[in-house]
Amino acid sequence: MTFQEELDRRRTFAVIAHPDAGKTTLTEKLLLFGGAIHVAGAVKSNKIRKTATSDFMEIEKQRGISVATSVMGFEFNGDKINILDTPGHQDFAEDTYRTLTAVDSVIVVIDAAKGVEAQTLKLMEVCRMRHTPVIVFINKMDRLGLDAFDLMDEIEKELRIQVCPLSWPIGMGNAFKGVYNLFEKNLQLFTSSEKQTIADSVAIEDIHSPELERYTGDAARKLRENLEIIEGVYPAFDLCAYRSGHLAPVFFGSALNNFGVRELLNCFVRIAPSPRDFDALERTVRASEQRFSGFVFKIHANMDPNHRDRIAFIRICSGIFERNRNYLHVRLGKSLKFANPTSFMAEKKSIVDQAFPGDIIGLYDTGNFKIGDTLTENETIHFKGIPSFSPELFRYVENSDPIRYKQLAKGLEQLTDEGVAQLFVNQANGRKVIGTVGALQFDVIQYRLEHEYGASCRYEPIQLHKACWITSTNKAQLEDFKKRKIQYMAWDKEKRDVFMAESPYALSMAQEKFPDIRFFFTSEF
Ligand code: G4P
Repeated sequence: MTFQEELDRRRTFAVIAHPDAGKTTLTEKLLLFGGAIHVAGAVKSNKIRKTATSDFMEIEKQRGISVATSVMGFEFNGDKINILDTPGHQDFAEDTYRTLTAVDSVIVVIDAAKGVEAQTLKLMEVCRMRHTPVIVFINKMDRLGLDAFDLMDEIEKELRIQVCPLSWPIGMGNAFKGVYNLFEKNLQLFTSSEKQTIADSVAIEDIHSPELERYTGDAARKLRENLEIIEGVYPAFDLCAYRSGHLAPVFFGSALNNFGVRELLNCFVRIAPSPRDFDALERTVRASEQRFSGFVFKIHANMDPNHRDRIAFIRICSGIFERNRNYLHVRLGKSLKFANPTSFMAEKKSIVDQAFPGDIIGLYDTGNFKIGDTLTENETIHFKGIPSFSPELFRYVENSDPIRYKQLAKGLEQLTDEGVAQLFVNQANGRKVIGTVGALQFDVIQYRLEHEYGASCRYEPIQLHKACWITSTNKAQLEDFKKRKIQYMAWDKEKRDVFMAESPYALSMAQEKFPDIRFFFTSEF
């Protein structure tokens, strides 16, 4: 196979959802339909149950599971599919944001009864920033949910994206009869007893044919009416609009009942993009370039505290990665060689000799890598686009064991390199502040500092609303601002200036009084 063919056949994506919408179930069913696994239940949920929110051991167990399911690759009709898993628990949303930088498209799962939920909104925001192509799967159609047209309206309004139904449900809940596939012009009939089997679909070329009555009875008339409305209201599917992130095709189904998943997968492999180009600070890197490049989007610590090695997950952006070849670690200016690069196929991990753009490989790391690091074939470029988002919760972190000060500093440095949380240092008094997306991370940090670094820390409260990265072309105003707000100024790990706003009011006052300063809620600007 040529390099170009390898490139064209790759589809790297993530399934994202608000917890409980059915992400794990759908992922598993995609693997099942793709032939990568043969029984349902093989993929463990990596979700930390809500009831276990402060159970560290549970977190540790889950970390083990999530290494195994970080990337699920499989071959499907000649295509190579890479599904990147994202943490189910919303306290780990930052991990999900970063994973989204490594994919070429996403499938968003929405619960038909709940519609668009908070976490979906946030994740979609990240997709929009990067113009990621999105397919929507409306799940749980076997249950009573919202009206399909209302769901469409809600998705369009809340997710701010033009929708284009490629399948349409016939009934819902107990009266759910199946879906009409507008993309393939056929009908799939639902029987809930067929949970673990794959039902055949019926081709209906002409929706006015009496065949439709035969299969769907009284619901046929309503379906025809709905299809007419759809044609009038929604735009026809347009590949360019989808691939540029402006149009989201929508599918209906029930992941639990294996329903609508095959249609989704068949359509997905046809329309989803192959590996895209990536922007580096210096230039755009085309996936089709022959020279290898890639970046670290995730680091996973070893579960065994006696071995502090970690796995760095690299997304390959261009060229061919080869085992035992020297590559440039751009930040360190160091040449590194990897003897055991790991690839992930369904549940199995194996050593790879070669990997192509779109693939994810795991590299064993003894502390060389940070999130966002670039690896190349001797070219000094830096991939951009691993943003930090303003954390939502903040605490001062203090050393509670004076002799172990060094261990604490190292632990905090490494854990924040891994992306567990963000570290800020107050510019006035040098105190360290940890910022996280969820409360769980504070416990994770304390636990891991103790168990992996032999350090102990305590937290002290700090009243903060948001961390904002600030810049200005008006140097005098920027300096004036920093001087006046010195007690609220901090550095992030890259020594960038961050304004730690105490409250929404303090933030809006600052914005009003210093009009030349730009305040950013992500570090990518
Ligand atoms: P998540 O990863 O997005 O958090 O969701 P997950 O797949 O774990 O699904 C959440 C719950 O929704 C699960 O039930 C799952 O069985 C159920 N579910 C998923 N798809 C469908 C569907 O199409 N129809 C219906 N009716 N339910 C669905 P649970 O009771 O929380 O867990 P479990 O004990 O079944 O594993």
